[in-house]
Amino acid sequence: MIDTQKIREFFPAIKAGRVVSNNAASTQIPVQLLDLLKELAVQYDNVHRGQSRSSLLTTEAFESSYDTIAQFVGANSRKNIILYRNATEAINSVMYSLMTEFKDGDNLVTTLMEHNSNYVPWYGLCHEILPKFGLNVECRIAKFDKQTGVLDLKHLKSLVDNKTKLVCSSGASNFLGTINPIKKIRTIADSSGYVQPTGEKKSYLLIDGAQVVPNAFIDVNELDVDFLVWSFHKMMAPFGVGALYAKEELLLKMRPFLYGGDMIAEGMVSREKVEYNSLPWKFTAGTPNILGTILSAQALRLLIDFSLNPGKYRYFMTDKKLAAADVKKAMDNIRSHEKALVGEALKILEQLPSVNIFGPKNAAGRTSLVAFTHKCKSPFKIAGELSELGIESRAGCHCATLAHHYYELNPPASCRLSFYIYNNIEDVRKACLAVKKCV
Ligand SMILES: Cc1ncc(COP(=O)(O)O)c(C=O)c1O
Repeated sequence: MIDTQKIREFFPAIKAGRVVSNNAASTQIPVQLLDLLKELAVQYDNVHRGQSRSSLLTTEAFESSYDTIAQFVGANSRKNIILYRNATEAINSVMYSLMTEFKDGDNLVTTLMEHNSNYVPWYGLCHEILPKFGLNVECRIAKFDKQTGVLDLKHLKSLVDNKTKLVCSSGASNFLGTINPIKKIRTIADSSGYVQPTGEKKSYLLIDGAQVVPNAFIDVNELDVDFLVWSFHKMMAPFGVGALYAKEELLLKMRPFLYGGDMIAEGMVSREKVEYNSLPWKFTAGTPNILGTILSAQALRLLIDFSLNPGKYRYFMTDKKLAAADVKKAMDNIRSHEKALVGEALKILEQLPSVNIFGPKNAAGRTSLVAFTHKCKSPFKIAGELSELGIESRAGCHCATLAHHYYELNPPASCRLSFYIYNNIEDVRKACLAVKKCV
Protein backbone atom coordinates (compact mmCIF):
# COMPACT_ATOMS: atom_id res chain seq x y z
CA MET A 1 0.00 0.00 0.00
CA ILE A 2 0.98 3.63 -0.43
CA ASP A 3 2.65 5.34 2.51
CA THR A 4 0.67 8.59 2.26
CA GLN A 5 1.83 9.81 5.63
CA LYS A 6 5.42 9.88 4.40
CA ILE A 7 4.53 11.20 0.95
CA ARG A 8 2.54 14.13 2.36
CA GLU A 9 5.68 15.48 4.01
CA PHE A 10 7.09 16.31 0.59
CA PHE A 11 4.26 18.59 -0.53
CA PRO A 12 4.39 22.21 0.65
CA ALA A 13 0.72 22.71 -0.22
CA ILE A 14 -0.34 19.82 1.99
CA LYS A 15 1.97 20.82 4.81
CA ALA A 16 0.30 24.24 4.61
CA GLY A 17 -2.94 22.49 5.56
CA ARG A 18 -4.72 22.37 2.24
CA VAL A 19 -7.15 19.55 1.45
CA VAL A 20 -6.09 19.18 -2.15
CA SER A 21 -9.04 17.52 -3.84
CA ASN A 22 -9.10 18.94 -7.37
CA ASN A 23 -6.33 16.75 -8.74
CA ALA A 24 -8.06 15.78 -11.99
CA ALA A 25 -7.37 19.39 -13.04
CA SER A 26 -3.76 19.57 -11.80
CA THR A 27 -1.71 17.95 -9.05
CA GLN A 28 0.73 19.50 -6.57
CA ILE A 29 4.50 19.83 -6.92
CA PRO A 30 6.74 18.02 -4.41
CA VAL A 31 9.69 19.73 -2.79
CA GLN A 32 12.17 17.50 -4.65
CA LEU A 33 11.13 19.02 -7.97
CA LEU A 34 11.19 22.56 -6.58
CA ASP A 35 14.75 21.93 -5.35
CA LEU A 36 15.71 20.46 -8.70
CA LEU A 37 14.48 23.58 -10.44
CA LYS A 38 16.87 25.65 -8.33
CA GLU A 39 19.75 23.27 -9.09
CA LEU A 40 19.08 23.48 -12.81
CA ALA A 41 19.44 27.25 -12.68
CA VAL A 42 23.21 26.79 -12.29
CA GLN A 43 23.62 25.09 -15.67
CA TYR A 44 20.70 26.97 -17.26
CA ASP A 45 21.20 27.10 -21.03
CA ASN A 46 19.49 26.28 -24.30
CA VAL A 47 19.64 22.80 -25.87
CA HIS A 48 21.09 21.90 -29.29
CA ARG A 49 22.22 25.52 -29.53
CA GLY A 50 25.66 25.88 -28.00
CA GLN A 51 28.90 24.10 -27.25
CA SER A 52 29.38 25.34 -23.69
CA ARG A 53 29.55 22.77 -20.89
CA SER A 54 26.24 24.11 -19.58
CA SER A 55 24.53 23.72 -22.91
CA LEU A 56 25.87 20.19 -23.34
CA LEU A 57 24.83 19.16 -19.82
CA THR A 58 21.37 20.62 -20.28
CA THR A 59 21.06 18.94 -23.68
CA GLU A 60 21.99 15.60 -22.15
CA ALA A 61 19.43 16.00 -19.33
CA PHE A 62 16.78 17.17 -21.81
CA GLU A 63 17.33 14.34 -24.29
CA SER A 64 17.48 11.62 -21.67
CA SER A 65 14.16 12.88 -20.29
CA TYR A 66 12.60 11.55 -23.48
CA ASP A 67 14.02 8.10 -22.65
CA THR A 68 12.44 8.16 -19.18
CA ILE A 69 9.09 9.21 -20.61
CA ALA A 70 9.25 6.48 -23.27
CA GLN A 71 10.12 3.85 -20.64
CA PHE A 72 7.26 4.95 -18.40
CA VAL A 73 4.62 4.05 -21.02
CA GLY A 74 6.51 1.06 -22.43
CA ALA A 75 7.41 2.77 -25.72
CA ASN A 76 10.30 1.34 -27.74
CA SER A 77 12.42 4.50 -27.59
CA ARG A 78 12.56 8.29 -27.37
CA LYS A 79 11.71 8.33 -31.10
CA ASN A 80 8.10 7.59 -30.14
CA ILE A 81 7.77 10.57 -27.80
CA ILE A 82 6.90 14.10 -28.91
CA LEU A 83 6.49 16.81 -26.31
CA TYR A 84 4.14 19.75 -26.55
CA ARG A 85 2.66 22.27 -24.12
CA ASN A 86 -0.17 20.01 -22.93
CA ALA A 87 -2.43 17.13 -23.93
CA THR A 88 -4.62 19.51 -25.90
CA GLU A 89 -1.75 20.64 -28.11
CA ALA A 90 -0.67 17.02 -28.55
CA ILE A 91 -4.13 16.10 -29.91
CA ASN A 92 -4.14 19.16 -32.15
CA SER A 93 -0.72 18.11 -33.47
CA VAL A 94 -2.16 14.76 -34.59
CA MET A 95 -5.09 16.55 -36.19
CA TYR A 96 -2.85 18.94 -38.15
CA SER A 97 -0.31 16.26 -39.06
CA LEU A 98 -2.99 13.89 -40.38
CA MET A 99 -5.07 16.66 -41.97
CA THR A 100 -3.74 16.16 -45.48
CA GLU A 101 -4.32 12.40 -45.31
CA PHE A 102 -8.11 12.61 -44.98
CA LYS A 103 -10.05 11.82 -48.16
CA ASP A 104 -13.47 13.02 -49.23
CA GLY A 105 -16.12 10.71 -47.71
CA ASP A 106 -13.91 9.60 -44.80
CA ASN A 107 -15.14 9.78 -41.22
CA LEU A 108 -13.71 9.72 -37.73
CA VAL A 109 -15.35 8.45 -34.57
CA THR A 110 -15.12 9.96 -31.13
CA THR A 111 -17.35 9.70 -28.04
CA LEU A 112 -19.85 11.74 -26.08
CA MET A 113 -17.73 11.53 -22.93
CA GLU A 114 -14.68 13.29 -24.38
CA HIS A 115 -12.96 16.28 -22.90
CA ASN A 116 -13.33 19.12 -25.42
CA SER A 117 -9.64 18.60 -26.22
CA ASN A 118 -10.58 15.34 -27.92
CA TYR A 119 -13.72 16.62 -29.60
CA VAL A 120 -13.29 20.26 -30.61
CA PRO A 121 -10.14 19.67 -32.76
CA TRP A 122 -12.06 16.96 -34.67
CA TYR A 123 -15.11 19.20 -34.92
CA GLY A 124 -12.84 21.96 -36.29
CA LEU A 125 -11.27 19.57 -38.80
CA CYS A 126 -14.60 18.21 -40.07
CA HIS A 127 -16.73 21.35 -39.90
CA GLU A 128 -14.30 24.19 -40.52
CA ILE A 129 -10.98 23.13 -42.09
CA LEU A 130 -11.60 20.29 -44.54
CA PRO A 131 -14.77 21.82 -46.10
CA LYS A 132 -12.57 24.77 -47.16
CA PHE A 133 -10.62 22.28 -49.28
CA GLY A 134 -13.82 20.76 -50.66
CA LEU A 135 -13.55 17.64 -48.49
CA ASN A 136 -16.49 16.21 -46.63
CA VAL A 137 -15.42 14.22 -43.57
CA GLU A 138 -17.97 13.21 -40.94
CA CYS A 139 -17.32 13.40 -37.20
CA ARG A 140 -19.33 10.58 -35.58
CA ILE A 141 -19.99 10.40 -31.85
CA ALA A 142 -20.48 7.21 -29.84
CA LYS A 143 -22.89 7.30 -26.88
CA PHE A 144 -22.50 6.06 -23.36
CA ASP A 145 -25.08 4.64 -20.98
CA LYS A 146 -26.52 7.48 -18.91
CA GLN A 147 -27.17 5.25 -15.90
CA THR A 148 -23.85 3.47 -15.69
CA GLY A 149 -21.59 5.97 -17.48
CA VAL A 150 -20.19 3.07 -19.52
CA LEU A 151 -19.21 3.61 -23.16
CA ASP A 152 -21.68 1.94 -25.55
CA LEU A 153 -19.30 -0.30 -27.48
CA LYS A 154 -22.13 -1.63 -29.67
CA HIS A 155 -22.92 1.90 -30.77
CA LEU A 156 -19.23 2.68 -31.26
CA LYS A 157 -18.85 -0.45 -33.40
CA SER A 158 -21.89 0.50 -35.50
CA LEU A 159 -20.27 3.86 -36.30
CA VAL A 160 -16.93 2.43 -37.40
CA ASP A 161 -16.76 1.35 -41.06
CA ASN A 162 -14.33 1.16 -43.95
CA LYS A 163 -14.32 4.97 -44.21
CA THR A 164 -13.21 5.48 -40.59
CA LYS A 165 -9.68 6.81 -40.64
CA LEU A 166 -9.43 7.38 -36.93
CA VAL A 167 -11.11 6.42 -33.66
CA CYS A 168 -10.50 8.88 -30.78
CA SER A 169 -11.46 7.94 -27.25
CA SER A 170 -10.57 8.95 -23.75
CA GLY A 171 -8.87 6.27 -21.66
CA ALA A 172 -10.92 7.55 -18.72
CA SER A 173 -13.54 10.27 -18.52
CA ASN A 174 -12.69 13.34 -16.46
CA PHE A 175 -16.39 13.79 -15.63
CA LEU A 176 -17.87 10.30 -15.27
CA GLY A 177 -14.67 8.71 -14.04
CA THR A 178 -15.38 5.78 -16.37
CA ILE A 179 -12.33 3.75 -17.35
CA ASN A 180 -12.72 2.73 -20.97
CA PRO A 181 -11.75 -0.71 -22.34
CA ILE A 182 -8.92 0.36 -24.64
CA LYS A 183 -8.24 -3.16 -25.93
CA LYS A 184 -11.87 -3.63 -26.99
CA ILE A 185 -11.85 -0.24 -28.72
CA ARG A 186 -8.62 -1.31 -30.46
CA THR A 187 -10.33 -4.46 -31.74
CA ILE A 188 -13.19 -2.39 -33.15
CA ALA A 189 -10.76 0.04 -34.83
CA ASP A 190 -8.77 -2.91 -36.23
CA SER A 191 -11.79 -4.48 -37.89
CA SER A 192 -12.89 -1.39 -39.84
CA GLY A 193 -11.21 -2.30 -43.12
CA TYR A 194 -10.12 1.33 -43.72
CA VAL A 195 -7.13 1.39 -46.07
CA GLN A 196 -4.45 3.70 -44.63
CA PRO A 197 -1.85 5.29 -46.96
CA THR A 198 0.64 2.58 -45.86
CA GLY A 199 -1.72 -0.09 -47.18
CA GLU A 200 -2.56 -1.22 -43.65
CA LYS A 201 -6.26 -2.05 -43.23
CA LYS A 202 -7.52 -0.56 -39.96
CA SER A 203 -8.56 2.70 -38.33
CA TYR A 204 -5.94 4.49 -36.30
CA LEU A 205 -6.64 4.67 -32.58
CA LEU A 206 -5.92 7.78 -30.53
CA ILE A 207 -6.33 7.51 -26.76
CA ASP A 208 -6.62 10.60 -24.62
CA GLY A 209 -4.73 9.35 -21.59
CA ALA A 210 -4.89 12.57 -19.55
CA GLN A 211 -6.84 10.79 -16.78
CA VAL A 212 -5.21 7.38 -17.18
CA VAL A 213 -1.45 7.78 -17.44
CA PRO A 214 -1.18 9.54 -14.04
CA ASN A 215 -3.32 6.87 -12.34
CA ALA A 216 -2.70 3.46 -13.88
CA PHE A 217 -0.13 1.30 -15.63
CA ILE A 218 -0.11 1.80 -19.38
CA ASP A 219 1.91 -0.20 -21.87
CA VAL A 220 1.50 1.28 -25.33
CA ASN A 221 2.76 -1.86 -27.07
CA GLU A 222 0.41 -4.15 -25.18
CA LEU A 223 -2.52 -1.83 -25.90
CA ASP A 224 -1.31 -1.33 -29.48
CA VAL A 225 -2.47 2.28 -29.55
CA ASP A 226 -1.35 4.39 -32.51
CA PHE A 227 -1.45 7.65 -30.53
CA LEU A 228 -1.58 8.33 -26.80
CA VAL A 229 -1.58 11.79 -25.23
CA TRP A 230 -1.32 13.00 -21.66
CA SER A 231 -0.06 15.91 -19.53
CA PHE A 232 2.54 15.99 -16.76
CA HIS A 233 0.82 18.68 -14.69
CA LYS A 234 -1.61 15.96 -13.60
CA MET A 235 1.26 13.85 -12.26
CA MET A 236 3.24 16.15 -9.95
CA ALA A 237 5.20 18.10 -12.59
CA PRO A 238 4.74 21.84 -13.10
CA PHE A 239 2.48 23.19 -15.85
CA GLY A 240 3.64 23.35 -19.45
CA VAL A 241 4.46 19.91 -20.84
CA GLY A 242 2.22 17.34 -22.50
CA ALA A 243 3.21 14.22 -24.40
CA LEU A 244 2.28 12.46 -27.58
CA TYR A 245 3.29 8.83 -27.96
CA ALA A 246 2.97 7.60 -31.53
CA LYS A 247 4.15 4.58 -33.47
CA GLU A 248 7.47 5.30 -35.13
CA GLU A 249 6.33 4.34 -38.62
CA LEU A 250 3.52 6.88 -38.36
CA LEU A 251 5.77 9.68 -37.09
CA LEU A 252 8.25 9.01 -39.88
CA LYS A 253 5.55 9.57 -42.50
CA MET A 254 3.54 12.28 -40.77
CA ARG A 255 3.94 15.95 -41.59
CA PRO A 256 5.37 18.12 -38.85
CA PHE A 257 2.79 20.08 -36.90
CA LEU A 258 5.12 23.04 -36.34
CA TYR A 259 7.74 24.15 -38.83
CA GLY A 260 10.90 26.12 -37.96
CA GLY A 261 14.21 25.86 -36.18
CA ASP A 262 15.80 22.66 -34.87
CA MET A 263 13.25 20.41 -36.58
CA ILE A 264 15.29 20.40 -39.79
CA ALA A 265 18.23 18.16 -40.65
CA GLU A 266 21.45 20.09 -40.01
CA GLY A 267 22.23 22.22 -43.06
CA MET A 268 19.41 20.73 -45.17
CA VAL A 269 17.44 23.84 -46.01
CA SER A 270 17.49 25.31 -49.49
CA ARG A 271 15.02 27.39 -51.47
CA GLU A 272 13.78 24.25 -53.20
CA LYS A 273 13.90 21.64 -50.46
CA VAL A 274 13.83 21.25 -46.71
CA GLU A 275 14.74 17.98 -45.01
CA TYR A 276 13.63 17.20 -41.49
CA ASN A 277 15.54 16.18 -38.41
CA SER A 278 15.46 12.61 -37.07
CA LEU A 279 12.81 11.58 -34.55
CA PRO A 280 11.74 12.92 -32.13
CA TRP A 281 13.32 16.30 -33.02
CA LYS A 282 11.42 16.48 -36.33
CA PHE A 283 8.46 17.49 -34.17
CA THR A 284 10.33 19.86 -31.84
CA ALA A 285 10.33 23.20 -33.66
CA GLY A 286 11.67 26.19 -31.77
CA THR A 287 13.16 26.32 -28.29
CA PRO A 288 11.26 23.74 -26.21
CA ASN A 289 10.19 23.84 -22.57
CA ILE A 290 13.58 22.55 -21.44
CA LEU A 291 13.20 22.83 -17.67
CA GLY A 292 9.62 21.58 -17.83
CA THR A 293 10.73 18.53 -19.80
CA ILE A 294 13.48 17.64 -17.31
CA LEU A 295 11.11 18.14 -14.38
CA SER A 296 8.40 16.09 -16.06
CA ALA A 297 10.71 13.11 -16.53
CA GLN A 298 11.96 13.42 -12.95
CA ALA A 299 8.34 13.63 -11.76
CA LEU A 300 7.79 10.18 -13.30
CA ARG A 301 10.89 8.82 -11.56
CA LEU A 302 9.77 10.33 -8.28
CA LEU A 303 6.22 9.02 -8.68
CA ILE A 304 7.58 5.47 -8.91
CA ASP A 305 9.82 6.05 -5.88
CA PHE A 306 6.94 7.56 -3.89
CA SER A 307 4.70 4.65 -4.71
CA LEU A 308 7.27 1.92 -3.98
CA ASN A 309 9.24 3.39 -1.10
CA PRO A 310 8.83 7.11 -0.33
CA GLY A 311 11.97 8.86 0.86
CA LYS A 312 14.23 6.25 -0.82
CA TYR A 313 15.39 7.17 -4.29
CA ARG A 314 15.78 4.25 -6.58
CA TYR A 315 15.03 6.17 -9.78
CA PHE A 316 14.80 9.91 -8.98
CA MET A 317 17.90 11.79 -10.22
CA THR A 318 19.54 8.64 -11.50
CA ASP A 319 20.01 7.54 -15.08
CA LYS A 320 18.70 4.06 -14.26
CA LYS A 321 16.41 2.66 -16.94
CA LEU A 322 12.86 2.29 -15.58
CA ALA A 323 12.15 -1.41 -15.16
CA ALA A 324 8.72 -2.20 -16.58
CA ALA A 325 7.99 -4.42 -13.56
CA ASP A 326 8.68 -1.49 -11.19
CA VAL A 327 6.53 0.89 -13.23
CA LYS A 328 3.74 -1.66 -13.16
CA LYS A 329 4.05 -2.31 -9.44
CA ALA A 330 4.16 1.42 -8.69
CA MET A 331 1.19 2.30 -10.86
CA ASP A 332 -0.85 -0.71 -9.66
CA ASN A 333 -0.20 0.52 -6.13
CA ILE A 334 -1.45 3.99 -7.04
CA ARG A 335 -4.51 2.49 -8.70
CA SER A 336 -5.37 0.43 -5.59
CA HIS A 337 -4.85 3.43 -3.34
CA GLU A 338 -7.13 5.58 -5.48
CA LYS A 339 -9.74 2.82 -5.67
CA ALA A 340 -9.90 2.85 -1.86
CA LEU A 341 -10.22 6.65 -1.84
CA VAL A 342 -12.93 6.86 -4.45
CA GLY A 343 -14.73 3.90 -2.88
CA GLU A 344 -14.91 5.82 0.39
CA ALA A 345 -16.17 8.93 -1.43
CA LEU A 346 -18.90 6.92 -3.14
CA LYS A 347 -19.90 5.31 0.16
CA ILE A 348 -20.44 8.70 1.83
CA LEU A 349 -21.98 10.56 -1.08
CA GLU A 350 -24.37 7.73 -1.94
CA GLN A 351 -26.01 8.24 1.45
CA LEU A 352 -27.12 11.73 0.43
CA PRO A 353 -30.50 11.23 -1.27
CA SER A 354 -30.54 14.69 -2.85
CA VAL A 355 -27.18 14.11 -4.52
CA ASN A 356 -26.89 12.53 -7.97
CA ILE A 357 -23.54 10.87 -8.67
CA PHE A 358 -22.45 10.42 -12.28
CA GLY A 359 -20.59 7.46 -13.70
CA PRO A 360 -19.97 3.86 -12.62
CA LYS A 361 -21.43 2.88 -9.26
CA ASN A 362 -18.41 0.86 -8.18
CA ALA A 363 -14.88 2.13 -7.56
CA ALA A 364 -13.38 -0.64 -9.71
CA GLY A 365 -14.85 0.84 -12.88
CA ARG A 366 -13.75 4.40 -12.30
CA THR A 367 -10.70 6.53 -11.88
CA SER A 368 -9.98 8.68 -8.86
CA LEU A 369 -12.76 11.23 -9.15
CA VAL A 370 -16.43 11.68 -8.42
CA ALA A 371 -18.73 14.29 -9.95
CA PHE A 372 -22.23 15.00 -8.70
CA THR A 373 -25.12 17.43 -8.80
CA HIS A 374 -27.71 18.34 -6.18
CA LYS A 375 -31.48 18.45 -6.68
CA CYS A 376 -31.74 22.18 -6.00
CA LYS A 377 -28.36 23.65 -5.21
CA SER A 378 -26.12 24.79 -8.07
CA PRO A 379 -22.72 23.06 -8.35
CA PHE A 380 -21.08 26.48 -8.32
CA LYS A 381 -22.76 27.32 -5.02
CA ILE A 382 -21.67 23.98 -3.57
CA ALA A 383 -18.07 24.48 -4.76
CA GLY A 384 -18.04 27.98 -3.26
CA GLU A 385 -19.31 26.71 0.08
CA LEU A 386 -16.85 23.81 0.01
CA SER A 387 -14.04 26.30 -0.48
CA GLU A 388 -15.21 28.18 2.59
CA LEU A 389 -15.04 24.88 4.48
CA GLY A 390 -11.46 24.42 3.25
CA ILE A 391 -12.27 21.85 0.57
CA GLU A 392 -10.99 22.25 -2.97
CA SER A 393 -13.40 21.12 -5.67
CA ARG A 394 -14.26 22.10 -9.20
CA ALA A 395 -17.68 23.14 -10.46
CA GLY A 396 -18.41 23.46 -14.15
CA CYS A 397 -18.54 21.16 -17.13
CA HIS A 398 -14.84 20.22 -16.71
CA CYS A 399 -14.58 20.70 -20.50
CA ALA A 400 -16.77 17.58 -20.87
CA THR A 401 -19.47 19.77 -22.35
CA LEU A 402 -21.09 17.21 -24.66
CA ALA A 403 -21.67 14.81 -21.77
CA HIS A 404 -23.19 17.52 -19.56
CA HIS A 405 -25.61 18.45 -22.36
CA TYR A 406 -26.40 14.74 -22.85
CA TYR A 407 -27.71 14.71 -19.27
CA GLU A 408 -29.61 17.94 -20.05
CA LEU A 409 -28.01 19.65 -17.08
CA ASN A 410 -28.87 23.31 -16.84
CA PRO A 411 -26.45 24.93 -16.34
CA PRO A 412 -24.22 22.27 -17.96
CA ALA A 413 -22.25 21.76 -14.77
CA SER A 414 -21.45 19.38 -11.92
CA CYS A 415 -19.25 19.55 -8.85
CA ARG A 416 -16.19 17.28 -8.83
CA LEU A 417 -13.81 15.97 -6.18
CA SER A 418 -10.66 14.19 -7.32
CA PHE A 419 -7.81 12.57 -5.44
CA TYR A 420 -4.18 11.65 -5.92
CA ILE A 421 -1.29 9.76 -4.39
CA TYR A 422 -0.89 12.15 -1.43
CA ASN A 423 -4.55 12.13 -0.38
CA ASN A 424 -5.51 9.91 2.53
CA ILE A 425 -8.87 8.56 3.63
CA GLU A 426 -9.24 11.47 6.08
CA ASP A 427 -9.05 13.93 3.17
CA VAL A 428 -11.83 12.04 1.42
CA ARG A 429 -13.97 11.94 4.55
CA LYS A 430 -13.42 15.64 5.23
CA ALA A 431 -14.31 16.51 1.64
CA CYS A 432 -17.43 14.34 1.49
CA LEU A 433 -18.67 15.31 4.94
CA ALA A 434 -18.28 18.94 3.85
CA VAL A 435 -20.46 18.14 0.84
CA LYS A 436 -23.00 16.65 3.25
CA LYS A 437 -22.94 19.87 5.25
CA CYS A 438 -23.45 22.01 2.11
CA VAL A 439 -26.41 20.04 0.84
C1 LIG B 1 -9.58 13.65 -20.19
C2 LIG B 1 -8.81 14.91 -20.44
N1 LIG B 1 -8.35 15.17 -21.66
C3 LIG B 1 -7.64 16.26 -21.94
C4 LIG B 1 -7.36 17.19 -20.97
C5 LIG B 1 -6.61 18.40 -21.34
O1 LIG B 1 -5.38 18.44 -20.73
P1 LIG B 1 -4.49 19.75 -20.86
O2 LIG B 1 -5.23 20.85 -20.17
O3 LIG B 1 -3.23 19.39 -20.20
O4 LIG B 1 -4.35 20.02 -22.31
C6 LIG B 1 -7.82 16.98 -19.67
C7 LIG B 1 -7.59 17.97 -18.61
O5 LIG B 1 -8.36 18.11 -17.70
C8 LIG B 1 -8.56 15.81 -19.39
O6 LIG B 1 -9.02 15.54 -18.17
